[in-house]
Amino acid sequence: MRIFTKLSAPLCLLFVFLCLKTAFSSSIHASSFSTTHLCSHEEALALLQFKTSFSIYYTVPYSDYCVENYSKIESWKEGIDCCSWDGVSCDNVTGHVIALNLSCSFLYGTFPSNSTLFFLRNLQSLNLALNDFRHSKIPSEISQFTRLKHLDVSSSQFSGQVPREIAHLPKLVSLNLSSYFHDNSPDLILETTTFRNLVHNLSEVRELVLSGVNMTSVNPCFFMNLSSSLTSLRLFNCQLRGNFPNSIFRFPNLKRFSLGGKGNLTIDLPSSNWSSPLQRLYLGDMDCGRRLPESIGDLKSLQSLTLFCNLEGSIPASIGNLRQLTSLYLFSNNLNGQIPPSLANLTQLTYLYLSFNQFSGPIPASIGNLRQLTSLVLYSNNLSGQIQPSLANLTQLASLDLSNNQFSGSIPFHAIRFSKLRDLDLSYNLLNGTLPPWIFTLPLLEYLHLNHNQFQGQINQFQQNSLVELDLSNNKLQGSIPNSIANLVNLNYLGLSSNLFTGLVELDKFSVLQNLETIFLSDNNLSLRMNVNANFTLPMLTDVSFSSCNLSEFPNFIRHSNGLQSLVLSKNSIHGNIPEWICEKDDLEILDLSHNSLIGKIPNCLPKSLSVLNLQGNNFDGNIPFGFPEACGLINLNLHGNQMNGLLPRSLVNCRILQVLDVGNNNISDTFPQWLESLLELQVLVLRANKFHVSCIAPKKVHLFPSCEFWTSPAIILLVRMGAISYQYSLVVTWKGFDYELQGILTVFSSIHLSNNMFEGEIPDVIGNLSSLKGLNLSHNNLTGHIPPSLGNLMNLEWLDLSSNELAGKIPDELVSLTQLSVLNLSNNHLGGRIPQGNQFNTFGNGSYEGNLELCGIPLSKSCDGIGTPPSSFQEKDELWRFGWRVVVLGYGCGVIFGLLMGYLVFRTGKPKWFVSLFDGRPSPSGRKMRKARRLVQRRSWLQS
Ligand SMILES: *[C@@H]1O[C@H](CO)[C@@H](O)[C@H](O)[C@H]1NC(C)=O
Ligand SMILES: *[C@@H]1O[C@H](CO)[C@@H](O)[C@H](O)[C@H]1NC(C)=O
Ligand SMILES: *[C@@H]1O[C@H](CO)[C@@H](O)[C@H](O)[C@H]1NC(C)=O
Ligand SMILES: *[C@@H]1O[C@H](CO)[C@@H](O)[C@H](O)[C@H]1NC(C)=O
Ligand SMILES: *[C@@H]1O[C@H](CO)[C@@H](O)[C@H](O)[C@H]1NC(C)=O
Repeated sequence: MRIFTKLSAPLCLLFVFLCLKTAFSSSIHASSFSTTHLCSHEEALALLQFKTSFSIYYTVPYSDYCVENYSKIESWKEGIDCCSWDGVSCDNVTGHVIALNLSCSFLYGTFPSNSTLFFLRNLQSLNLALNDFRHSKIPSEISQFTRLKHLDVSSSQFSGQVPREIAHLPKLVSLNLSSYFHDNSPDLILETTTFRNLVHNLSEVRELVLSGVNMTSVNPCFFMNLSSSLTSLRLFNCQLRGNFPNSIFRFPNLKRFSLGGKGNLTIDLPSSNWSSPLQRLYLGDMDCGRRLPESIGDLKSLQSLTLFCNLEGSIPASIGNLRQLTSLYLFSNNLNGQIPPSLANLTQLTYLYLSFNQFSGPIPASIGNLRQLTSLVLYSNNLSGQIQPSLANLTQLASLDLSNNQFSGSIPFHAIRFSKLRDLDLSYNLLNGTLPPWIFTLPLLEYLHLNHNQFQGQINQFQQNSLVELDLSNNKLQGSIPNSIANLVNLNYLGLSSNLFTGLVELDKFSVLQNLETIFLSDNNLSLRMNVNANFTLPMLTDVSFSSCNLSEFPNFIRHSNGLQSLVLSKNSIHGNIPEWICEKDDLEILDLSHNSLIGKIPNCLPKSLSVLNLQGNNFDGNIPFGFPEACGLINLNLHGNQMNGLLPRSLVNCRILQVLDVGNNNISDTFPQWLESLLELQVLVLRANKFHVSCIAPKKVHLFPSCEFWTSPAIILLVRMGAISYQYSLVVTWKGFDYELQGILTVFSSIHLSNNMFEGEIPDVIGNLSSLKGLNLSHNNLTGHIPPSLGNLMNLEWLDLSSNELAGKIPDELVSLTQLSVLNLSNNHLGGRIPQGNQFNTFGNGSYEGNLELCGIPLSKSCDGIGTPPSSFQEKDELWRFGWRVVVLGYGCGVIFGLLMGYLVFRTGKPKWFVSLFDGRPSPSGRKMRKARRLVQRRSWLQS
């Protein structure tokens, strides 16, 4: 960064030139300018003064978009004719500065409204694009440039209202106020009055680039008043609303048109009469009338066509008429049908993006004719068949992305054909066969994604070192991991998990990969070893997965990776305590140490950044230690199968986004955590095999589930709605490109076992809503009241065990309708009256009813003659209730032991919201891929719109 100091003396515009004249070296005289320099002294001074009002700051945001890496104004020096300065053009005759191009000049600072620039009254062209004017307003003094024809202040961090004086530049031919960086800076606002004046006064205007300007108050119809000489109109992200008149396509000279983005716009693509000589059309993030009309083929001049605007249906064959087309971007629509073979006529095509649609069928062989193609991007469709062998003709390809389709067969190219390839992505298909050796020799390849296929065989030695991302995970690759992987010194992402790789891997091997951020080796037959004396670090490492890697100790080299975000070491035999350094990993979001032999207490300093903490299947003991902080971000907490004791920390209520809580199979001894009902996102709750008590503060609420209110909490509502939910369940989230299965959530919830506890209260009626229940076991509790007749709704019930409770009253006749019932055990209760007859009831023996002294009728020998009705339920309930409570108080001091075997509950839609939002109903490529796609779209927006 080089900084020019500002001239600090405040000088009035009128006097500044006089002052400067004397201030500068006396050898420079006005006369010497006029004789030896074309440029006038005054204009040179004005420019020099302008120069001093800014710093030059080489790291301005977005300088990436600049080709130059120096500032033009560095060449501006006194004593040299200003007409020869970089970016300055003068009139050959008068010597007046008539054009100033300071785009990408790394200018940094507020743009002063009294800038000496306004002294250049003859300016016809002013380009200040891609500088950083620090959210200055565009000065209204701009109207002093009465001769201005071209004004470009795009992406230069101007903000606020565009001055109305902008409409007082009657000669203006092109105006560019656009900004592609509006996410980071406040928009320029162009108000409706200013805009109307602009349209009215600028009769010469040909190019109007307003993308990124906030024009929320402007009615799209006003654009129809623009001059018919308009050649370019670019309106992406302008916050426009409503229907944009499609007569824009009849503007006789329009060559370039972009529309869409932020706002709420529609436009109907005309079905005929496109009269415009359009060369570039960009309609994105809006609605453009569902169908791509056949008439699109009339736009014979089209060179670049970008449409991501909710198109449906197929691509009309007439697309083959657009012979001039070099770029075709139709990604992110709902287009279907086959990729039209007529595309093969577009021999100029270099970019073909059809990703995120529903195209099906094979890639037409004729695509092999598109010899100029550098990018063929077809990911996330339903394409199938073999990878088209004719693609071998596309020797210019830099990017070939066929991922997330249903391509099958093996890779059909045998010799190296794609020597320019940088990005090869065939992931998420059904490809098999061995990996052709040429893949490992492509000299420029940076991104190689072959994951989620069925590739077999061994992998070759890597003969390139350009690779940045290598993902071979989820295949059937075998053999050892080649040593040459250590040559991939640029590697940032290494995904080899879920294959059949074997062998001992010294982790030291990876120590040369100093750029490595992600390493996934899980689920192979590998044995990872840490060399005891190893003292290396991978400073960039953020994501580590060594699940099922036969690790016996903590890979402590990770300790020095400061930005660690996920650490998955599950299913190893790591012993000892959790190392304390975990607590220093302030960015850690996923920590999965499940199924190891870890012991001791869970440190109570775990990072607050955690979203997933999975420690299940270890030997941790002690209390659950955490004081969960106010802004607890945990989504999944799994401590299942340890020896945790003590209470469930009340501070869990701070984890407002908790979706999965599994503390099953521990020794937690606590009151029933009714307070969990405040966790509205909770979708999976596992409390089984612990000692939960019922609170003695509100004994009236002692019921099977502690209170009626609890039934309204999402957890239980979902239990009730189980009928609508599939049984087999496993939560898989994609975390940075790998599928992270939340182990232990796989669930079969077709039965409820709540036996051998001391449940008090009645069986809730709502249990009859669990229509898919196959088994219900509530035996050996202290349940009272009636058997709810609603049980008769459980049409799938195959076994019902309510034995050894305090149930009274009749056996409801409704149970006769349970035609699937094959096991019934109601023994040892206080049931009475006649046993219902019919259907399955004709098959049950004495054993189903024994120990109920008041029951009568078949199959019992006791006849029903002379037997009275059982006691009224109300009385009985009340009585038993009081009795029950007294027993509790006497027996246990405070509370009833309430061991709860709840199974796994899966709620609401059956899919947690985050799952839904990640997958959005369709299998999607990894998060990494999504990010890549977004980057691409952003980049394309910038380049194409
Ligand atoms: C422009 O105005 C500011 C105050 O608004 C003043 O500080 C500065 O000196 C002026 N610059 C010139 C060149 O007159
Ligand atoms: C000015 O001179 C340059 C060459 O020195 C020439 O290319 C340009 O056309 C001239 N412009 C005018 C307006 O005469
Ligand atoms: C656009 O400008 C209007 C004022 O004209 C303002 O209310 C609105 O918030 C702005 N929109 C954005 C996205 O900045
Ligand atoms: C977009 O506009 C349509 C009508 O033009 C309207 O029905 C819809 O609610 C709007 N959507 C938003 C998000 O403003
Ligand atoms: C390609 O163009 C020719 C005319 O030059 C036409 O006959 C042919 O049908 C077109 N091919 C396709 C596949 O549309």
